[in-house]
Amino acid sequence: MEHVRIGDLSKHIDQTVTVKGWLYNKRESGKLKFPIVRDGSGYLQCVVSKKEVSEASWQAATDATQESTLSVVGVVRAESRAPGGVELHVSELAVTHLTEDYPITPKEHGTAFLMQHRHLWLRSKNQHAVLRIRSEVEQACRDFFYNRDFTLIDSPILTPAACEGTSTLFETDYFGDKAYLSQSGQLYLEPAAAALGKVYCFGPTFRAEKSKTRRHLMEFWMIEPEVAFMEFDGLQELAESFVEYIVQRVVERRREELNALERDITKLEKIQRPFPRITYREAIEVLQSKGKDVKFGDDLGADDETTLAAAFDKPVMVSRYPKAIKAFYMQPDPLDPDVVLGMDMLAPEGYGEIIGGSQRIHDHDLLLQRIKEHDLPVEAFQWYLDVRKYGSFPHSGFGMGIERAVAWICGVTHLRECIPYPRMLYKIYP
Ligand code: 4AD
Ligand code: MG
Repeated sequence: MEHVRIGDLSKHIDQTVTVKGWLYNKRESGKLKFPIVRDGSGYLQCVVSKKEVSEASWQAATDATQESTLSVVGVVRAESRAPGGVELHVSELAVTHLTEDYPITPKEHGTAFLMQHRHLWLRSKNQHAVLRIRSEVEQACRDFFYNRDFTLIDSPILTPAACEGTSTLFETDYFGDKAYLSQSGQLYLEPAAAALGKVYCFGPTFRAEKSKTRRHLMEFWMIEPEVAFMEFDGLQELAESFVEYIVQRVVERRREELNALERDITKLEKIQRPFPRITYREAIEVLQSKGKDVKFGDDLGADDETTLAAAFDKPVMVSRYPKAIKAFYMQPDPLDPDVVLGMDMLAPEGYGEIIGGSQRIHDHDLLLQRIKEHDLPVEAFQWYLDVRKYGSFPHSGFGMGIERAVAWICGVTHLRECIPYPRMLYKIYP
């Protein structure tokens, strides 16, 4: 009998098929049993009637425990009330592996316990939905840039220098020299932009963040575009088009998963261009008017970001931060030299910064001066300075943290549930 994935069963109405998967849950009433089987593509209610199956199949349906592996043969019937719109009227059921003492039961477990069993927790309904949405977001990111003729540039993971400050570097030995795990692919994209015009990278990035918050991981995935001759306004337009695209793509293609997570989809449907824009100076005034103790020069904390974002039902782009609190490579604003042409996009509903980006300094001497001011080793940046030596050009780019975007889209509060195997402060198991 043909093996069909549960997600494809609606194309096999009234046919006899085989389904292979794991027992998710089981109900029974007298001479009927209703095992629910999952196979990664969906959930299927099976109907086992004592009258219609062999003694062995009935016994197997009786013995099957949560997460036992099953092979089930039956006729697919349309059933509008069932998940996926179909159910299976079983003729044969076999347990191909009997699971004993599955640690995650339908009762409530604490997060520490679930994180310790992350490899099994992935099978649970909400985790499954988040991972499907993450996969959709990643595919949407790639499609967005591919469709706009960007070239994918895989940036290195082992690097000789810091991109985003020296305080969060993971250091490793490189044949007697020091190497660091990449904090961002940006520095490697800039020379590539001179070669190919429009480029992006997408890979894991690493930050030894000594803080334990729901918004920080030690290892996270970042997608970063970099565009030659694009200036700051163009950057903001690219960022909002990009975010609109990925959110609407999930709304369109992952409705079932959003519903499983009880996400309010009407909030996501509103994520359409243009997005509101405010400057850092305006942000400080807004925060002060709300009684917050902040002044020009302060970095915005998570609470400040939540307060600012609460005024809007779309992501807000905060631009022109003081140069002292931003990375060394950001271009000063010609109209306001105390600030840089950098922007953070803050998601609504308190999810915080999802994007950080800027126009880059393209003047060689100014960049060299900024590298020195930041106490960075000039030798390690010689190649990066070359971009300003041989055919320099204005250019801009940004980075979006995939887990931050997924958390917001899914309505999940902690980033640890938005990556298959989170790396967190002092925690690296499993
Ligand atoms: O703002 P960041 O540090 O910017 C950069 O790395 C630039 N080099 C990007 C560029 O212009 N090409 O980081 C970018 C994004 C943040 O907005 C956030 O979404 C995410 O990366 N991010 C983290 N996500 C999870 N855990 C962490 N510890 C993160 N740090 C940054
Ligand atoms: Mg940032």
